[in-house]
Amino acid sequence: MEKTRVAIIGGGPAGLLLSHILDLNGVDNIVVEQRSRAYVLSRIRAGVLEAGSVDMLRSMGLGERLDREGKPHDGTYIVWAGSEKLLIDTKKYTGRDMTAYGQTAITEDLYAARDKAGGQIIDEAENVQPYDMTTDAPYVTFTKDGKERRIDCDYIAGCDGFHGVSRKSIPADLMQVYEKGYPFGWLAIMSETAPLSDIIYANHERGFALASQRNERLSRYYIQCDLNDNVDEWPDDRFWEELKARFPKDIADAIATGPSIEKSIAPLRSFVAEPMRHGRLFLAGDAAHIVPPTGAKGLNLAFSDVYYLSRGLIEHYGKNNDTYLDGYSDMALRRIWNAERLSWHLTCLLHKFPDDDRFDQRTREDELAYLSKSEIAMAALAEQYAGLPFED
Ligand code: APR
Ligand code: PHB
Repeated sequence: MEKTRVAIIGGGPAGLLLSHILDLNGVDNIVVEQRSRAYVLSRIRAGVLEAGSVDMLRSMGLGERLDREGKPHDGTYIVWAGSEKLLIDTKKYTGRDMTAYGQTAITEDLYAARDKAGGQIIDEAENVQPYDMTTDAPYVTFTKDGKERRIDCDYIAGCDGFHGVSRKSIPADLMQVYEKGYPFGWLAIMSETAPLSDIIYANHERGFALASQRNERLSRYYIQCDLNDNVDEWPDDRFWEELKARFPKDIADAIATGPSIEKSIAPLRSFVAEPMRHGRLFLAGDAAHIVPPTGAKGLNLAFSDVYYLSRGLIEHYGKNNDTYLDGYSDMALRRIWNAERLSWHLTCLLHKFPDDDRFDQRTREDELAYLSKSEIAMAALAEQYAGLPFED
């Protein structure tokens, strides 16, 4: 039997960052992760950080490599049929830029920081289960190397992603769930080629496409695909050809192709479970909400949750003040819903839906034309794309 103040279920970005911040503030915690560290580190996810996320990582001592390798952008471009490139200029409208820096690198930085500080991360934990969240003495049980273990704690942080056990351990009748599926997926590849200098979304009658990057020698590209597609049906040549067909010729010609080093298909989903608290269990990150990747909000939301939750726990232990802890769910959800709406909207604006008629595509193009003409419309989009500021 072990004892800690905060037991953190899940060692993804949310769980690791929470652990790191709590530790910096003298709140001891243990992370329990079901997969191996190698597996967690090999996961490739999105790679665009809001300025608020960058500030937060820097202020927690995690900015060194990020400042060296992360690439700042004034915003993200949109292209569509017969138009000039349109920049969602977060720099111009909000004074804040966006930084291309992969979640894989962030996870590496977080593990390095936890190791340096002697943080306890138990990996390959099986059958992780939270108990007694509505009492003053919650605990978490799991099996490690064939032995049953138990961690007694004051609080449990459910940072175990969409498929985790934390949300599922909350009685369904105490939760509101909002969910939307989309009738397509994203086919992604990583290639060791020089990326385009900009991050560019394309709306095209063949479907959505995205050009992104990880560093000077690593590119990330996506195309909208059928939900039933299999990566085996998408050899590299076919991928590159389809990708280029969805961008205007000058951009397509500038795309450097090469062998893929990773290829995957992911479905798109919007999901929110609220409230994000049940007794002494708090949900953070993908455990409570999912956004479709259009907008790259998933990781940034996980970080804003951690910002609010860590503040609540630090105020509780340091100042005996529960205002922030009690306000956590409402405060986090305000930001989450803004990003949910933005991600849903950008997904609808930029993709081709199977039952689209000519009217749908024409109104989409009208909205894009409006955005390119109206400073007011663009300022509103840029403000949300940059991510709303954290609340005091
Ligand atoms: N017990 C312990 N750990 C678990 C369990 C469980 N029952 N179930 C899942 N986990 C672990 C997963 O193996 C994973 O390492 O929890 C971690 C959750 O990490 P993420 O899924 O990356 O979620 P989160 O930390 O909230 O980060 C959100 O990830 O999905 C992307 O776009 C999303 O970028 C965003 C970020
Ligand atoms: C990425 O680089 O992986 C990326 C960028 C922008 C998005 C989604 C993903 O909207």
